[in-house]
Formats: sequence, C-alpha cells, structure tokens
Amino acid sequence: MDACLIAAGQRAEHYEMAAYGTLVAWAQAMGHTEAAKLLQQTLDEEKAADKKLSGLAESGIHRSAADAAHPEEEEEEESEAAATGARKSTAKGGRR
Ligand SMILES: [Fe+2]
Repeated sequence: MDACLIAAGQRAEHYEMAAYGTLVAWAQAMGHTEAAKLLQQTLDEEKAADKKLSGLAESGIHRSAADAAHPEEEEEEESEAAATGARKSTAKGGRR
C-alpha cells in the first residue's frame, strides 16, 4: 500500500513539474520576470517533493512491497541457495 501511495504521489509531482516547467518557459518568453521567478520556486518545490518520495521508495519500501507480493519467491531463493551449496559439496565429494 505504501509503494502504491508513493507511486501515485510521484505521478502527481511529475504532472505538476511538467506544468510548472512550461509555465516558467512561457513567463520568461513573455518577459514576466517576477512570475517566472515565482513559478520556478514552485517548480523547485515540486522537484524536492518528488525527490523525497524517491528517497522513501528506495529506502526499502519497494523491496518490502515486492517481498510481500511474492513471499514464496524469497523462500524459493533461500531453498535454492541451500540446495546449490549441498550440490557443490556433493560435487567436491564426487571428484575425490
Ligand atoms: Fe506537488
């Protein structure tokens, strides 16, 4: 659920970044320096919010969501690792 909320938040931030980026360019093109400056500040805030969301997602929330969605894969990987270790032992034993 946390991963979904972050994803939805980032979609909103990117939409806002696109809009404010365009507005900054338009304000500059029309010579509205003060408006461009204020719009740029807002664009910077949107970018900062997006960066915070990325930080949250990458701090382990994506991993937790993936593990929760497919807990059996994590168990299979552990079993495979154990089996591979066992096979290597057998192979070594077979060469002797
Ligand atoms: Fe925003």
